[in-house]
Amino acid sequence: MTRESTGMKRRSFLGWGTAGLVALCSAVGISLGAVVRFLTPSVFYEPPQTFKIGNPGDYPFGQPTFLADEKIFVFRDRDKGFAVASGVCTHLGCTVAYFQSDQRFHCPCHGSVFNADGTVIHSPAPRPLEWFEVTLARDGQLNVDKDKIVLPTYRLMV
Ligand code: FES
Repeated sequence: MTRESTGMKRRSFLGWGTAGLVALCSAVGISLGAVVRFLTPSVFYEPPQTFKIGNPGDYPFGQPTFLADEKIFVFRDRDKGFAVASGVCTHLGCTVAYFQSDQRFHCPCHGSVFNADGTVIHSPAPRPLEWFEVTLARDGQLNVDKDKIVLPTYRLMV
């Protein structure tokens, strides 16, 4: 065996050794990534479900007020008080519009129609619109809790 061929074998061995080391490090890195991913909770952070929407006097009687950020309709009736309806269609989540002319909610996406109390009168929406609890906070503002679903007949008298 010549000195040259021994050097070639050594270089070849070092080349394969380096490749093996790189492959091992890659496998360990990928495995660690998978472990970190497994240990990290897959939670989607939502905006707060309880929030204040201002003072009762901010809302007119009759026509509901739509709050776009919260996607809710705030109804204020002189005799019945406050009620808050979801503006999210129960079909695929589009935002509904309320028409005072027929006192119904209409979804622009696929044509669902809801009565003023949120019940479905035209599909494809599978369920009525939700109504949320509205209370009066200590500071005098209205407080809406989207985690508390109430009957459409629920009212807050202020
Ligand atoms: Fe409202 Fe489809 S999202 S009808």
